[in-house]
Amino acid sequence: MTEAQCALDSGTGIRVLICRGCCCGTERKHPEVDHDGQIVAISARARARVVDCVGECAHSNVVIVRSGDGSSVWLGGINNPAITAALCEWLGAGAPQPPPQVLQSRVFVRRSETVGAGAEHV
Ligand code: FES
Repeated sequence: MTEAQCALDSGTGIRVLICRGCCCGTERKHPEVDHDGQIVAISARARARVVDCVGECAHSNVVIVRSGDGSSVWLGGINNPAITAALCEWLGAGAPQPPPQVLQSRVFVRRSETVGAGAEHV
């Protein structure tokens, strides 16, 4: 499945924040990634919003998945079509816990509550 082949899923209640700040989404740091295609693919699976830097640049590209119960899963290194496709499949399934094995290595714990400006809206 390509990033653009993700089908729309409108009933999961999942919200996704896609970081696009100083590192995430930049061709300078990740020239091999179709950053715009990634946004399109994720947005086709869940309500998604692009946010500014969330203060976890070492993990770029960062995607935050929020479930209807308010819990969040922070994912880093979302930087290739296979990982994006796995993320889309997981979102389409309603993002059940735990995430699939392929994504578990991308899950990280937010390092602190002191985060970048974009996180104010996270
Ligand atoms: S630009 Fe995404 S965490 Fe900084």
